[in-house]
Amino acid sequence: MSTSPTPPPGCPAHGVGPEGLRRLYGPEAEADPMGLYEKLRAEHGQVAPVLLHGDLPAWLVLGHRENLDVARTPSRFSRDSRRWRDMREGRVGPEHPLTPLTAWQPVCNFADGADHERLRAAVTDSINRFDRRGIRRYVTRFANQLIDEFAGAGQADLVSRFAEHLPMLVMTQLLGMSESYGPRLVEAARDMIKGTETAVASNEFVMQTLLQLVERKRATPGHDFTTWLLEHRSALTDDEAAQHLRVVLIAAFETTANLIANTVRMVLTDRRFRASLSGGHMTLPDALEQVLWDEPPFTTILGRWATGDTELGGQRIKEGDMLILGLAAGNVDPEIRPDLTEPVHGNRSHLAFSGGPHECPGQDVGRAIADTGIDTLLARLPDLQLAVADPELPYRSSLMSRHLVELPVTFTPKPSMPTQASSELPTPHRSEPLPEAAGPLPPVAMPAAAAKRRASTWWGRWFSGH
Ligand code: HEM
Repeated sequence: MSTSPTPPPGCPAHGVGPEGLRRLYGPEAEADPMGLYEKLRAEHGQVAPVLLHGDLPAWLVLGHRENLDVARTPSRFSRDSRRWRDMREGRVGPEHPLTPLTAWQPVCNFADGADHERLRAAVTDSINRFDRRGIRRYVTRFANQLIDEFAGAGQADLVSRFAEHLPMLVMTQLLGMSESYGPRLVEAARDMIKGTETAVASNEFVMQTLLQLVERKRATPGHDFTTWLLEHRSALTDDEAAQHLRVVLIAAFETTANLIANTVRMVLTDRRFRASLSGGHMTLPDALEQVLWDEPPFTTILGRWATGDTELGGQRIKEGDMLILGLAAGNVDPEIRPDLTEPVHGNRSHLAFSGGPHECPGQDVGRAIADTGIDTLLARLPDLQLAVADPELPYRSSLMSRHLVELPVTFTPKPSMPTQASSELPTPHRSEPLPEAAGPLPPVAMPAAAAKRRASTWWGRWFSGH
């Protein structure tokens, strides 16, 4: 097997750029982001100077406490990217890879203060109107439908056959799209987020569909998120409502897919769970929380911008500097987790959903989709095993996420459930410990993941970093 040579110093692919600063992009950073965070912590402490694409400077926040300081103090660290000095001074043009991620838009995740409160209240209050049991019923129904499609084969890639589909199927239903929108929207929304060649066209289709949905719900209100968004006292315009429906779809999709895949992997392989399971104490919600600590779906969040000169973690931050919340790095900060091999029972103070005024408002929905979906999977296929050794599982990393590309498993083939009965299946026994993790079986042939080129879309780059 040939190994690629290390790029020479000065080459943009080298891990260290001008003034000896480490790059948060490129092959070295993508090969081992967690290793890079620890090097930065050792060299600089809890807040490290780094280089982004084009060698633009930024601060990566590594400490747990420092991440919360930044997220909780919008008066010092704004969410409004128009404050970014490099952008104001023309160093981040339309073609820059970070433009799709950082160009300001009139949506809640770029707003501060009263604007943010108005937009976010509409989103949060509408999410909170969901009936949790209703969500779980949808998840069970769609999970069973997906499992039916591969249950007879005795093997499957759980990323492409299960984890990637379930959140979007559930979310479109919760938004009020129901059957009439059909699977085409699910496919288009997935395609748009993946940033394939057809992503731009898919985005147009999704936006048109969301605008039509808004029009329809204005005329005929229903019992769904879209209707509640429109009825909200914040009085969103049709365009604001459609933009926020898209924010929610995007925020929910890959994060939850990631959480599902990583939790299934952990349940099947992790020794800490095996040890705990034999004691009978480890349940699926514990496994989810452990993954949110160890492998948060967003490894970083871009970004916050300093509103004035300030100090953080011993570093002098200048007005207009960009800060990146290091969620994955903060979760393994030795100051709060001196022993990473210790399971984090019952402790939800991880940074996976960030904190402060922008803390993820959909976290309970994300947890419910992952938890009920995996519960259903394990109830249907109780002898699920990893088909390859854990270290052989392929991952893809980018600036903001690290995710499994495939999760091949084997199991005893099972007949499909009759479709109409799927929604009436018994709810899995949530308080029961997870099935005993077993060693991997010899590898089975899995289709190679198609190499997908990412198009120039902010959602695609959000996750791919390309
Ligand atoms: C496991 C799944 C999820 C994870 C890990 C996750 C994580 C996050 C994170 C880290 C943020 C950024 C906060 C910041 O800027 O500091 C965020 C924002 C957001 N998330 Fe989630 N999320 C998940 C699922 C969802 C779901 C299911 C929904 C909708 C139902 C949702 C809706 C949102 C929205 C609307 C925002 C923007 C909030 C604002 O700026 O005020 N997320 N999420």
